[in-house]
Amino acid sequence: MSLNAKRILLIIGGGIAAYKCLDLIRRLRERGAAVRVIMTAGAQEFITPLAAGALAADKVFTDLFSREDEHDVGHIRLARDCDAIVVAPATADLMAKMANGLAGDLAGAVLLASDRPVLVAPAMNPAMWAHPATRRNVETLKRDGVRFIGPEAGEMAERNEAGVGRMSEPLAIAEALSSILDGGEKPLSGKRAVVTSGPTHEPIDPVRYIANRSSGRQGHAIAAALAQLGADVTLISGPVTIPDPDGVATVHVETARAMMEAVEAALPADIAVMVAAVADWRTEADSRQKIKKQASEGPPALTLVENPDILKAVGHHRQRPALVVGFAAETENVIANAEAKLARKGADIIVANDVQPEKGVMGGLRNAVHIVTADGVEDWPESGKEEVAAQLARLFADRLASAEKG
Ligand code: C5P
Repeated sequence: MSLNAKRILLIIGGGIAAYKCLDLIRRLRERGAAVRVIMTAGAQEFITPLAAGALAADKVFTDLFSREDEHDVGHIRLARDCDAIVVAPATADLMAKMANGLAGDLAGAVLLASDRPVLVAPAMNPAMWAHPATRRNVETLKRDGVRFIGPEAGEMAERNEAGVGRMSEPLAIAEALSSILDGGEKPLSGKRAVVTSGPTHEPIDPVRYIANRSSGRQGHAIAAALAQLGADVTLISGPVTIPDPDGVATVHVETARAMMEAVEAALPADIAVMVAAVADWRTEADSRQKIKKQASEGPPALTLVENPDILKAVGHHRQRPALVVGFAAETENVIANAEAKLARKGADIIVANDVQPEKGVMGGLRNAVHIVTADGVEDWPESGKEEVAAQLARLFADRLASAEKG
């Protein structure tokens, strides 16, 4: 992904996520973009123009009424001398101003004067994001052609708060920007991908079930990242509490058998990425009535039977996708187990991660993965699940292209 010679105007809003914009500037420049920065008054409460300017290697603009800046560049030129505008973090206040065309400060005036594509990365408390006023503003902005990335679900800066409201990670923002700008760089356009995500629930009776731990975050992020690269994605999700990703057809299932059926229905596909934490077993009998607790008889015996192994079935399918990817969540011998799984499941890539509880990967926001293929093992550094997803999607696109070349 390249932003070579692109001129990006980054408008930094006043939220705690502003600190991530320092990394965003680096990520954009690393991809060849020239970055110009505007900071709102609120943004300057969180990070300094000096830090942003040092990373952008340029002056930072803060004031609509600065004579010097108006003379040198002017807000109209700031609005036009760029290929795209990114607003990050887009606070509820900034989005309300944008939706209403308020131009009382430099950010507002530039946004109103610009005809360039605008990408907004919201970040705010989940209650503010869910508020009808914000919902209205988001709808208005979308109608005006403004693009959105995030917000993501996760923990907030406020203690003990979680929900939808975290700003997307810098790498994901950079990816979204490059796909908006070159529109053309869609290595997976015309390709179909099927992704499984989340846990499965295997009913014991109408109120009890067997399940695996899985938030669905990594699988959902991979589905979204594949769609960003132009793939036509079907996401088959077990029961999760996170929202369906944008731009992806999501099918909701409960059990491994239903997941298997939905995967079959989504074939043929070019890429299959099986991320779901599928329950290995289900109870032989699925009682239609709630099993009663009877002190005299003691606890009931549950006879377990094996569930279909979806990855293995896809890896050996008559309509086998050209690229089959599995995951290996292990608590020990991570690499050795992944290598064995590669052959057994008929996969081209196993993405292995260490899920010892103290690593906090399960349900958490970060992940450190090892890419296991027939060629060997690559260890990737720990990063956010979205960043891991963006890099994996790139890798899958490259591998598919070389598989097709033969
Ligand atoms: O065998 P194990 O469960 O460790 O393998 C993990 C990989 O296999 C994951 O990619 C998971 O999505 C997939 N899997 C599956 N169906 C199962 C069990 C695992 O698709 N029944």
